[in-house]
Amino acid sequence: MPPTENPRPDAAGKVPFAMRDPLHVPRERYHDPAFYALEKQNLWPRIWQMACRLEEIPRPGDWVEYEICDQSILVVRQADHSIKAFYNTCPHRATQLCKGAGRARQIVCPFHGWRWNLDGTNSFVYGAQGFHPDSLRPDDIRLTECRVDTWGACVWINMDPDARPLREALSPAAAHLDAVGVENMRVWWWKEVVLNANWKLAQEAFFEGYHVMQTHPQLTMGAGSDYPADTVEHLTFDNGHSLFRGREGTNYGTERTSADEFLERARVLWEGQDAMTLERDLHVFEGIRDKVSPDEDFPPAAIAALYEYARGARIPMPPPGEGLRLWGGEVFLFPNYLMLPMYANSLAYRVRPHNDDPEWCRFEIWSLTTYPEGQEPGRARLEGRFATDDAENWGVIPRQDMSNIERQQRGLHARSYRGSRLSTEWERAISNMHEELDRYLGR
Ligand code: FES
Ligand SMILES: [Fe+2]
Repeated sequence: MPPTENPRPDAAGKVPFAMRDPLHVPRERYHDPAFYALEKQNLWPRIWQMACRLEEIPRPGDWVEYEICDQSILVVRQADHSIKAFYNTCPHRATQLCKGAGRARQIVCPFHGWRWNLDGTNSFVYGAQGFHPDSLRPDDIRLTECRVDTWGACVWINMDPDARPLREALSPAAAHLDAVGVENMRVWWWKEVVLNANWKLAQEAFFEGYHVMQTHPQLTMGAGSDYPADTVEHLTFDNGHSLFRGREGTNYGTERTSADEFLERARVLWEGQDAMTLERDLHVFEGIRDKVSPDEDFPPAAIAALYEYARGARIPMPPPGEGLRLWGGEVFLFPNYLMLPMYANSLAYRVRPHNDDPEWCRFEIWSLTTYPEGQEPGRARLEGRFATDDAENWGVIPRQDMSNIERQQRGLHARSYRGSRLSTEWERAISNMHEELDRYLGR
């Protein structure tokens, strides 16, 4: 009997609907207000989280606001190109100083016009003579800093001054992404969708390749339910992280695939999401189609052509090797950031609660690529928020994924439903995430 309806707290007596075993996730973890409140209190203020991409703030004075639950953090590029993060609140009467993104020489409060330098020191108090001097001590009216660090071409923040260093927290998953060159990737496009689903439920849809057969039939190349469930291996790590990747012996370079099948799959990926495989890659592959004899294995020739093209175009490609097994796979960085690398490209997802409601989330998708040296794109901006069924803005692959997520959230509420029953092979990353979550919630 799955212990999914069991609201008993964990051993420490703090976590309701705690994980009891790795195969069952109590449904309340996806909608219960008290569980959500505990995440808000014990997870988000203590964890490193991806606040923005570096190319969102390329120049001194560039700032972006990062919101998580009821907290707002301002990330600011400094005059010396370093980065600082501040709580986005006025020390006078609490007005949020900045909304969205912008560029400024000074941060100015929109209410009474107090001002701050980019480093957070106060530079102006209007009518200062009307305040008691003790109210305006410089250290008290500077902006309060939040911890900040960078990795993977992103800025990460942590509200906990005692948290361990970022790299330690992202270990060991980040090293797998280093091997595929995520540091060199920049935004190709960036969009978001608001989903009527819990933030964890939404990201779990990308933790496994198990759903491909039914959700994305076009990716099985006609195999249907004969499509093997074990083409990828799923690994779970400490700290809640996980990945799936090609099994040894099925990675690019050794898998025997015809040119037709390889090109068809590349085209379906490009047309279906304009991510992971881009038009540029498809052109390279199609360019060698007639140069590879039918007896020859096509993928190694295609990948060799891609490397040759990248060399000529001065596009830094990841070094060939073990890391390339991640092409077509996924890496999850606890608590809410995922990457799906391929060639010199990647998809990246960030999922956050929305409107302080456990049943809504804000889901952002980046298509990343590596640009030729010296041709970096300009400042990255969110293109907009688009509905789940907006076929102009979402390719068929993300629409297929999103359609199931909201149905799942509805299904959770069925009176008959007792909680998920996970595969030991394909879905262990889900419980691994929940187990790490309980470590935070139980503290
Ligand atoms: S609230 Fe910001 S200056 Fe008054
Ligand atoms: Fe999917």
